Amino acid sequence: MNRKKIAVIFGTRPDTIKQAPVILELQRHPEYFDVVTIATAQHRQMLDQVLEVFKIKPDYDLDIMAPKQTLASLTAKIITGIDEILEKEKPDMVLVQGDTSTTCIGSLAAFYRQIPVGHVEAGLRTDDKMNPFPEEINRRITGCITDLHFAPTKTAKDSLLKENVDPKTIFVTGNTVVDALEYSVKENYEFTVPVLTEVVNQNKKIVLVTMHRRENWGKPMEGAARAIKRLAQQYPDFAFVFPVHMNPIVRDAVIPILKDMPNVKLIEPLDYLDFVNIMAKSYLILTDSGGVQEEGPHFGIPILCLRYVTERPDAVNFGTVKLVGLEEETIYNTALKLIEDENEYKKMANAVNPYGDGLSSDRTVKIIKNYFGLANEEIIEFDPR
Ligand code: UD1
Ligand code: UDP
Repeated sequence: MNRKKIAVIFGTRPDTIKQAPVILELQRHPEYFDVVTIATAQHRQMLDQVLEVFKIKPDYDLDIMAPKQTLASLTAKIITGIDEILEKEKPDMVLVQGDTSTTCIGSLAAFYRQIPVGHVEAGLRTDDKMNPFPEEINRRITGCITDLHFAPTKTAKDSLLKENVDPKTIFVTGNTVVDALEYSVKENYEFTVPVLTEVVNQNKKIVLVTMHRRENWGKPMEGAARAIKRLAQQYPDFAFVFPVHMNPIVRDAVIPILKDMPNVKLIEPLDYLDFVNIMAKSYLILTDSGGVQEEGPHFGIPILCLRYVTERPDAVNFGTVKLVGLEEETIYNTALKLIEDENEYKKMANAVNPYGDGLSSDRTVKIIKNYFGLANEEIIEFDPR
């Protein structure tokens, strides 16, 4: 059997969470694949947390993270670092995931070496160059280079078709984020962070908060933080659990506004198991995260999305996610209405996930087998209906 060498590239918290199920599935087929794992470590601590959960030890670790790194310095370090590895390993395919600098520049490095690229979570678009920034353009660049597009949803496939991508190269796989969730969420999960055990044991209504997007840095993020402060004052019995992203720019915006609120638990980024298990027990989510927008619907938890546009419209159309933007008044008033009006809340609390069924990594790996002629697997595309 002509085994194929697949290089899987990742480097931040979200792209690693979503590559993990693919890596594990590829590794289950050593008869077909030799898997080389390459971490850029664009994130350091937040990457290591994920690697530990999924027990992945990268074959290469570029360790490039620097405090307050710029996009340009990231780009330079990623492309030279990955190029050296590709030259040495000569993989048959490179797999990238999502929309980070690691993704986009990883695919470019593969293109320069004329190595086929598979893009996990392909085809997400807002059609707005600056939102999310720089992810919309990262995705488009990656999409131009990609040979196999693993589109999570039909919506994503349609976006690629509109860009005249060859339909034979697009597959609706679902999002591997759901595979990762199914691996991680347990009924009797024991939290490793005491404050989580405490709020769960006290039967608090939990409002889970995350923020980090570049386009929200500064004033917009401060507006959202002020809205959260007002909600926390209004509902002293609720617990607002806010694991704060390690980016110092995010911390400077939110900590001064929220630090004195006793029911706002400003904590370090949670490891993935703690995070998704506390999410499963949450009452409401406020977030600007891409991944969290895909996870919340799995548990039927209403999400107020702190953005004006989203490249993930499916759960918005489905009703579980509402785009509230970053204006303090709008966030505050929308949350208030949801909390006070049981019918409004129930309308959003639908536990059906339009993003995946837990079989996405299986489909992805079968498609790669077929691509190389290693097998002739039947591919039944993801369809949430
Ligand atoms: C990056 C991605 C973004 C993704 C987000 C997920 C790009 C351009 N941005 O944004 O698409 O949504 O990750 O979280 O690829 N830091 C630490 N420790 C860590 C991680 C970050 O200290 O483990 C700090 C560092 O000071 C670092 C800064 O955060 O310089 C920013 O990290 P960076 O990867 O450049 O951007 P993010 O805003 O995290
Ligand atoms: N997450 C985590 N710990 C946290 C916050 C989030 O493990 O404290 C996970 C979350 O479950 C999701 C991912 O991180 O899978 C989302 O990452 P992030 O919001 O940083 O990036 P985005 O998805 O917006 O690119």
